[in-house]
Amino acid sequence: MKKQPTPLDSSDNLLTPKITPCVQLTHPLFDKYKVQVWVKLDYLNHPEIQGNKLHKLKYNLLDAVERGAEQLITFGGAYSNHIAATAAAANEIGLPVTGVIRGQELEQHPEKWSHTLKHAQQNSMQFLFINRKNYRLKHQAPQVIEWLKQHPKSFVIPEGGSNDLAIKGFDEMCAQITQQMPDWTHLYCPVGTGGTLAGLIANCRHPKNIQISPAGQKRLPTVLKNIIGIAVLNEADYLRKDIQSWIETFENKRENENKNNKKIKIDWQLITNATGGGYGKISNYLKSFQKRFEQTFNLPLDPIYTAKLFHGIYKQIVQKKLPADSKVLVLHTGGLQGNKK
Ligand SMILES: Cc1ncc(COP(=O)(O)O)c(C=O)c1O
Repeated sequence: MKKQPTPLDSSDNLLTPKITPCVQLTHPLFDKYKVQVWVKLDYLNHPEIQGNKLHKLKYNLLDAVERGAEQLITFGGAYSNHIAATAAAANEIGLPVTGVIRGQELEQHPEKWSHTLKHAQQNSMQFLFINRKNYRLKHQAPQVIEWLKQHPKSFVIPEGGSNDLAIKGFDEMCAQITQQMPDWTHLYCPVGTGGTLAGLIANCRHPKNIQISPAGQKRLPTVLKNIIGIAVLNEADYLRKDIQSWIETFENKRENENKNNKKIKIDWQLITNATGGGYGKISNYLKSFQKRFEQTFNLPLDPIYTAKLFHGIYKQIVQKKLPADSKVLVLHTGGLQGNKK
């Protein structure tokens, strides 16, 4: 039986991310190039609404409940981490959810469904399968327009969950980072739609509710900081505009709310030439890199986002793109549900 929607507020357990650890990876290669590499194990923040998904969904769910939405609708492919996470979150708070899934052919062939779809269905997600051409139209697709007419009190969460509310949702996690490791010099994350990268930039520049130790305070303004996104899809240069626009919206709002808001100077860049052939493309070379990495550091990766992320960072290190004494912090965004068959 479907659970009744529970009233949510920002103190709810689901929406208050656990403090996840930052651990150091040690390897002779890092010593050779004189860099420290640390990982924020953010995938440990929730068993199902893992890593960046929890942050992106947080204020979207709060907004949906506040507006009295009767159901959610969102978009994704058959292996989408966002579909898996939204199904789990909606189930946890008792809101019905429909996933608009790319690939009409799957409708008649549940035996071909991925683990992601099967598990989302167990979490009570309903599906609307649409063909690839219409999928590109998202909420303008004829089936989606019809569905929205029939369900007028719906809350639409975009593909990948990236919107202004998602950007804001990285507040707690960035406050954690600022407290745990105030002297990081390079912070890396993988990039699909760019929401996570924008969320990191916006919230690390304007950390929320943090009490930095006096030592950290002193170090903060003097360290040159860079946030770097590694794109996992080809031709991702267009994302810079979206990312910049999300950051500006966030910063304008923050300045209106608090004129004395202190801003930490942080530069950012998007690397678009480490996609390993494009979204979902996994070469034998990448597979073996992932395997060696997992064995060496005893850290699980997914091939779509985090393996490409670490491979991109490895390339930056050996190509001497990082100055000596850099303190690299890598955000492990999760995606491990995608490893299940
Ligand atoms: C595990 C994982 N890491 C990173 C990303 C990329 O995040 P974004 O779409 O916000 O760029 C995604 C997709 O949302 C993801 O599932």
